[in-house]
Amino acid sequence: MTSRRKKPEELRSHRWYGVDDLRSFGHRSRTAQMGLERSEYAGKPVIAIVNTWSEINPCHTHFRQRAEEVKRGIWQAGGYPVEMPALTLSEPFQKPTTMLYRNLLAMETEELLRSYPADGAVLMGGCDKTTPALIMGALSANLPAIFLPAGPMLRGDYRGQFLGSGSDTWKYWAELRAGNITQEDWKEIESGIARSPGHCMTMGTASTMTSAAEAMGLTLPGAASIPAPDSRHAQMASLTGKRVVDMVWEDLKPRDIVDARAIDNAVTAVLALGGSTNAIVHLIALARRAGVPLDLARFDALARRTPVLANVRPSGKYLMEDFFYAGGLRGLLARLSDLLDGTALTVNGRTLGENVAGSPVYQDDVIRTRDNALVANSGLAVLTGNLAPHGAVIKPAAMEARLQVHTGPAVVFRSYDDMAARIDDPALAITADSVIVLQGAGPHGAPGMPEWGQLPIPKKLLQEGVRDMVRISDARMSGTSYGACVLHVAPESHVGGPLALVKDGDLVALDVPARKLELLVDAAELERRRAAWRAPPRHFNRGFGALYLDHVTQADQGCDFDFLEDGAATADPEIH
Ligand code: FES
Repeated sequence: MTSRRKKPEELRSHRWYGVDDLRSFGHRSRTAQMGLERSEYAGKPVIAIVNTWSEINPCHTHFRQRAEEVKRGIWQAGGYPVEMPALTLSEPFQKPTTMLYRNLLAMETEELLRSYPADGAVLMGGCDKTTPALIMGALSANLPAIFLPAGPMLRGDYRGQFLGSGSDTWKYWAELRAGNITQEDWKEIESGIARSPGHCMTMGTASTMTSAAEAMGLTLPGAASIPAPDSRHAQMASLTGKRVVDMVWEDLKPRDIVDARAIDNAVTAVLALGGSTNAIVHLIALARRAGVPLDLARFDALARRTPVLANVRPSGKYLMEDFFYAGGLRGLLARLSDLLDGTALTVNGRTLGENVAGSPVYQDDVIRTRDNALVANSGLAVLTGNLAPHGAVIKPAAMEARLQVHTGPAVVFRSYDDMAARIDDPALAITADSVIVLQGAGPHGAPGMPEWGQLPIPKKLLQEGVRDMVRISDARMSGTSYGACVLHVAPESHVGGPLALVKDGDLVALDVPARKLELLVDAAELERRRAAWRAPPRHFNRGFGALYLDHVTQADQGCDFDFLEDGAATADPEIH
């Protein structure tokens, strides 16, 4: 980082507002049209506030107000804030899955920053895919930027008990199907499980990715853990606005921050949090945007040395609100300092080591000490074998330990609809030892690689008390889910990966300690099946879906578009 500060005429926006030509007249007269006199913005850094607020995104309901607080900070620091709404990716509502649109928001972010007179950006996201999308786009645009995390919502409440997003939905849904709770109970849970603005408050994808952004150096220190309704969240928004103005003058850009050290720090943080498996796909995509090689093997290598310290659901007991009160991410990172590269730079101009040094932990049961870790290591594991030649992932911390080494006969579903139609059929030939296989749920297959990976346990087995089984798919799984679910099988079945060749009754062997996933069918028979295999029809022939299918990469490659991966930022536009 250079200590030289830019001059106003070196600002990118100067080419729009500062020169004396016909075009600049147009830009200034149109700014005047919006009520701004020239002295209010001339020579000031233009800060784009990329806001994913929408009335269809419950996790971002406070973003209108937060954008005002960001603007306050920007004005106070001598900048000119310009709010730019961007596509929201609302996890509960967007179908078939927000993952289909992550790259669209990334493209939109990149192009918003490139095509308008932005000198810097505040990226407002939090609901699952919004975080990686905004950061991927900002890395490609490479203008000074800070990520402003939405913050987790407050704990859910049900008859004096806490409820966790997702985790308790799955848990009580299973109890309802098993006949252990009533429709009335279920309705009460519905009204109390999400009771404030903010993203899911378990260690789902949202909390995992906002924490990863902080560990990567892209948020102000401590930002990711603050609950959305807390007044300290509003204060953080204002400080974020203030700081990004200085980043513009310092010319501190995302690619100065996100290097191999930052990526390893983010992966280590995700592992110590017991974070969502979705982070694997997102961090690979994001690292590639920054030109940092990251593959599944690196996750497994870092997992083997990283303890899970966050006692947060679904792996643990507490929720993000408790995690914040216990010291938050900074407290957790301070306990991991020997596993992090403290020299990595962050958006406040200081190193990660400086930002977390001495950060206290107030409750050792929520953020565990190293000698009392929730899981000693390997909270995530990467599997390979003839069923997943390019890899698959599993979360050993969130499954029944007895299933870690398991061989059983496959029960195969060709699609989600096939599974939905037959899984609860009393005549289905399935036992607790069976291995449930879902095909057609990957990036091309579903399409969009939805979070179907926590395949349901058949009702008749639930009623027998079975709560976990080995389940395998090329889907992702919600970070709030749990179970012996093998995910992200690559290559996916829809493009002819070996998962497509599995038939009912085939023996499948899972060995998590050995990191193996094998289909116990001889090679000649598999070759016969491969020769007979026919590709299923393509899902889209027009629109964004067609672009997606033409360019999306497989899960082990991050599911980015091939033409958006590494490379210098595209040149700035000519201003005519
Ligand atoms: Fe938005 Fe879970 S629904 S983070």
